[in-house]
Amino acid sequence: MARQSDPLPKKNPPEASEAPRVRTRDIFRIYAQEVRKHWVLFALVFLGALGAQIAGIVSPLYMKTLFNDVAAGSRTPESFHGLIALVAVIAALSVFGWIAQRVQTYSIIHLESRGMADLSASAFDYLIGHSYQFFVSHFGGTLTRRVSKFAGAFETLMDNVMLAFFPTAVFAIGAVWVLFLRNQVLGIALAAWIVCFIAFQIYVARLRRPLRVARSEADSKMVGTLADAISNQNTIALFSGNEHEGGIFRGVIELWRKATMRSWGADEMIWSIQGILIVGINIGLLYGAVVYWERGLITIGDFVLIQSYLIGLFGQLTGISMQLRRFHDAFADAVEMMEIIQLPHEVRDVPGAPALRIGAGAIAFRNVDFWFSKERPVLAHFDLSIKGGEKLALVGPSGAGKTTITKLLLRLYDIKGGAIEIDGQDIAKVAQNSLRDAIAFVPQEPILFHRSLMENIRYGRRGATDEEVIEAAKKAHCHEFIEQLPERYGTFVGERGVKLSGGERQRVAIARAILKDAPILVLDEATSSLDSESEALIQDALRTLMEGKTVIVIAHRLSTIMKMDRIIVVEHGTIAAQGTHEELLAANGLYHKLWSIQAGGFRD
Ligand SMILES: Nc1ncnc2c1ncn2[C@@H]1O[C@H](COP(=O)(O)OP(=O)(O)OP(=O)(O)O)[C@@H](O)[C@H]1O
Ligand SMILES: [Mg+2]
Repeated sequence: MARQSDPLPKKNPPEASEAPRVRTRDIFRIYAQEVRKHWVLFALVFLGALGAQIAGIVSPLYMKTLFNDVAAGSRTPESFHGLIALVAVIAALSVFGWIAQRVQTYSIIHLESRGMADLSASAFDYLIGHSYQFFVSHFGGTLTRRVSKFAGAFETLMDNVMLAFFPTAVFAIGAVWVLFLRNQVLGIALAAWIVCFIAFQIYVARLRRPLRVARSEADSKMVGTLADAISNQNTIALFSGNEHEGGIFRGVIELWRKATMRSWGADEMIWSIQGILIVGINIGLLYGAVVYWERGLITIGDFVLIQSYLIGLFGQLTGISMQLRRFHDAFADAVEMMEIIQLPHEVRDVPGAPALRIGAGAIAFRNVDFWFSKERPVLAHFDLSIKGGEKLALVGPSGAGKTTITKLLLRLYDIKGGAIEIDGQDIAKVAQNSLRDAIAFVPQEPILFHRSLMENIRYGRRGATDEEVIEAAKKAHCHEFIEQLPERYGTFVGERGVKLSGGERQRVAIARAILKDAPILVLDEATSSLDSESEALIQDALRTLMEGKTVIVIAHRLSTIMKMDRIIVVEHGTIAAQGTHEELLAANGLYHKLWSIQAGGFRD
């Protein structure tokens, strides 16, 4: 395989900036580790392949003797018995070859299926450990495909190496060797030809690889576009975007078609040249054989021997050139997943990070800087101290950075400067799981698993009993609507929870938080999709839930936060004002303005 040194072509901007360069040997290393785990199976595949090829090399030798004996033409009972004995040996060799091949294929089935399962599982584990930001910047559809292709590539590479390359190599070496013993010139000719053939393969592999990678990327892009369109089907329909989307998709398909054409075109050219090489050696050896036969140096049996080897060899080599195409495809597939595997997890635990020890649940943002892009900081020198048990509200214009503040607290992103502490412990230095276990978070737009409602709510505390789940659902006022569903708690909610209304989804998310019962509670617009009546009911439940906890509530509807201990007005990532509802009203600033607009709205 050619050394890979050419940089990978650029792709979608967010991915291109992160994607590390994948080297051939990294992929082999991962696959080799996998093979090492199942070394007994691998050894069986190896021995099976070796046995089958040895049978294929030795058998023509007996064929040769058989033909020579037949040509000698003495029809005596002794020579007849001799011929029958030769047929018996050839039969025994065939049976041996057949058994060896079964050992080879049966073992490879086990090896590949186990390897693929392991690789899929570890690709999943690594992928899912990437940060929130990583998933925001990658197409879901593309990622799904990368994981499945990664395991698929292992199968193809194993098939190639163990069912094609290795057996062909054994057969070629055996054939050259036997031929050389018979006639040195013919043996050397065949060896020289094989060397040329391999050199040609290595040379074109280098040319072919970038084309393959480009095609695989075009392929992923096509899937990504398709997945994006499918998840936005509603928007497409509402804005009559069918034709527009069709146009975009056709554009991507066209790029894919061109990449495919280029790649297949190169293959076709390579095959044409290979065809000429094969015809050349075939005719060359036939010619040589005739010349040597004429001089009495080789026999009829040798003709049979040479032809058997050539037929066997060409069959295998043609197979190989087909396999090589799949080999490169598989390689390009593996590269895409390897880019993700080599990309370090963005948010990591420091080695030996202790668990967060939670006491009163005091939170402190100290001089925190954070940005998604440097030109546009979200938080600059942000300071905020929240006492244990305090109930704090964040208000402010859309895009001010409220959600980001809470996501930083959960360490979904790492901050760029300063520190965030919980009970005096830097959250960057404690185990992430312990941090997130300590915080119940109800997001602005909850997304659910396509699982039953029971399982979705139970996600808040996976050890909870059915009774506990139902209890939490009652408190979050989910129980009412769940009881009316045909399958009740067994109802599946559709991908991302699309079969529920926005308010129902919010209530499920609240039920999760109630069940989790963590010492810190963060509600990001948790009741924004509810009607006033359900909101009033849930506010009640939330008040009970908040007791004894540190709470951060983000709300646009100011009426819901009037009773909080302190209200922080966030504007452009800084604290514009803070105080109680009354204090802020009296200060006559942004809060007063927002309140007047909303109160005015209520009065009309
Ligand atoms: N993953 C992201 N990548 C890049 N920019 C982001 C990302 N998430 C948020 N932003 C930007 O950061 C800023 C703050 O966003 P944030 O979600 O914190 O606002 P918010 O105050 O919660 O607004 P809203 O009231 O509308 O929910 C916005 O300008 C937003 O565009
Ligand atoms: Mg927000």
